[in-house]
Amino acid sequence: MNTDVAIKLDVQDLSLKFADKTVLQRINLRIPAHHITALIGPSGCGKSSLLRSFNRMNELLDETVTEGRVLLDGLDIYQPDIEVAELRRRVGIVFQKPNPFPHSVYENVGFGLRLQGISRGRQLDELVEAALKKAALWNEVRDRLHESAVNLSGGQQQRLVIARAIAIEPEVLLLDEPASALDPISTLKIEELMYDLKQHYTIVIVTHNMQQAARVSDYTAFLNMGQLVEFDETNKMFTDPSQRATEDYITGRFG
Ligand SMILES: Nc1ncnc2c1ncn2[C@@H]1O[C@H](COP(=O)(O)OP(=O)(O)O)[C@@H](O)[C@H]1O
Ligand SMILES: [Mg+2]
Repeated sequence: MNTDVAIKLDVQDLSLKFADKTVLQRINLRIPAHHITALIGPSGCGKSSLLRSFNRMNELLDETVTEGRVLLDGLDIYQPDIEVAELRRRVGIVFQKPNPFPHSVYENVGFGLRLQGISRGRQLDELVEAALKKAALWNEVRDRLHESAVNLSGGQQQRLVIARAIAIEPEVLLLDEPASALDPISTLKIEELMYDLKQHYTIVIVTHNMQQAARVSDYTAFLNMGQLVEFDETNKMFTDPSQRATEDYITGRFG
């Protein structure tokens, strides 16, 4: 693996329990900045839990215990004095099912900006437009900014949610199966969008679609039963994996 690349998230001996069930076991993983890293593995192996550990969303669920460290640019995000709201501004997350607010397209994107005190006028308009452009949605909604977001198609809603996430300039974008509820054309748009976005952001995507992982990602982590089995450049993982379990999984022998 190329060892020169800058590391954005450094996961060290990370373990996670829900009640007394171990969901992640001593994960060590270094996620490169300004690249796309895919998390793959069978259903229930802990992909979403690992993703949520990158902006401390597991602790919103009851009875979770996290051990180990996650460093964001060298800063341990599990330190007690970390401001979690600020952490989640720096590390945004988009889920499988598009979840726009039941408000206008404009208000969806402007929401986080307003929370930051940018409340009106030209500046807000410009930032909303810029986020919609980055999310490759502007041309489709420029005349519908004040219509309800729930009138958009599923694929448009998901790009809107991505626009909402990037409007506040995160550094890391976490995507949990962002296209699995979408049709093939919308899926392709999301994949193209990711390619554009990685210039600005570090992207981590959970996908159960191995073709998608192979198409979009630079690096791939394969998880199985809460453990990291293998992490490498995507090309290497898909052509010459070093672990037998990885090979069995990517060739469809289990999962
Ligand atoms: N809120 C929760 N409470 C208890 N167990 C959970 C919760 N969410 C997930 N789990 C368990 O954690 C394990 C990993 O789940 P998850 O991270 O969602 O896997 P994946 O995304 O790979 O399908 C599973 O065994 C699942 O049942
Ligand atoms: Mg999941």
